[in-house]
Amino acid sequence: MIDKAIGVFDSGIGGLTVLKEIIKLLPHEDTIYLGDTARVPYGTKSAETVTRYSLEITDFLITKGIKLLVVACNTASAVALPALKERYGLPIIGVIEPGARKAVATTRTKKVGVIGTEGTIKSGAYEKAIKAIAPEIEVISKPCPLFVPLAEEGWTDNEVANAAADIYLKDIKGVDTLVLGCTHYPILKAAIASVMGKDVRLIDSGEETALEVKRVLSEKGQLRGQRGLSPTHIGKRTFYVTDTPERFAKVGLRFLGGGLEHAQRVEIP
Ligand code: DGL
Repeated sequence: MIDKAIGVFDSGIGGLTVLKEIIKLLPHEDTIYLGDTARVPYGTKSAETVTRYSLEITDFLITKGIKLLVVACNTASAVALPALKERYGLPIIGVIEPGARKAVATTRTKKVGVIGTEGTIKSGAYEKAIKAIAPEIEVISKPCPLFVPLAEEGWTDNEVANAAADIYLKDIKGVDTLVLGCTHYPILKAAIASVMGKDVRLIDSGEETALEVKRVLSEKGQLRGQRGLSPTHIGKRTFYVTDTPERFAKVGLRFLGGGLEHAQRVEIP
């Protein structure tokens, strides 16, 4: 089990921001990433459809031999996690709970903002997760759908990105903590931070999820290097996509920051 890979899936490219954090924290672990680029976006689709896609992808990743699954997509984490946990026996980690936990630990004013796709915000998943820990916290949520194409276009630091951030974020008042509840939003951190101001802490769910992956694997004794296996092993990176790999490799490089030479196209039955 210990030398199996960590499986990570997302609706497309965005989940590479989560994978990046996992690789940074656990460089010795092999990873298998699947980006469902043929069916992206998930953020505008129904919970039922996103759940079906998530189950199909997990079936596929399990055939590749994984020891743990990370649902890097916030929308899929928000709507499909219960169905995934019910069907599969392996540890499954979504991005919502780690992000929510960090937000609760961070806020002093007990007022937290959450931004994400329409699907994530409509599900109320972050709000429920935050209130399950601290019911007294007030949560202000807002979908920011245009942030996704802006991040993929690389328009992260220009007047269009700043105008979008201005318009979306002006309703999120009085918070001291803002959860970046979408895979793409860390790419727009600078524009978001400049609108929110320096007193507002931005929570990157990807960073928190990587810490959770480490905690769970270590608890299970499945972390490489933990039981005599050489910690000098450099993690092998495998990438699968459901559409042609060219755009994924090109845009994904910006999200991952390197190490994305090859992605293989697969059919998800
Ligand atoms: N990966 C999605 C998320 O984090 C954003 C892109 C999409 O809508 O599929 O919610």
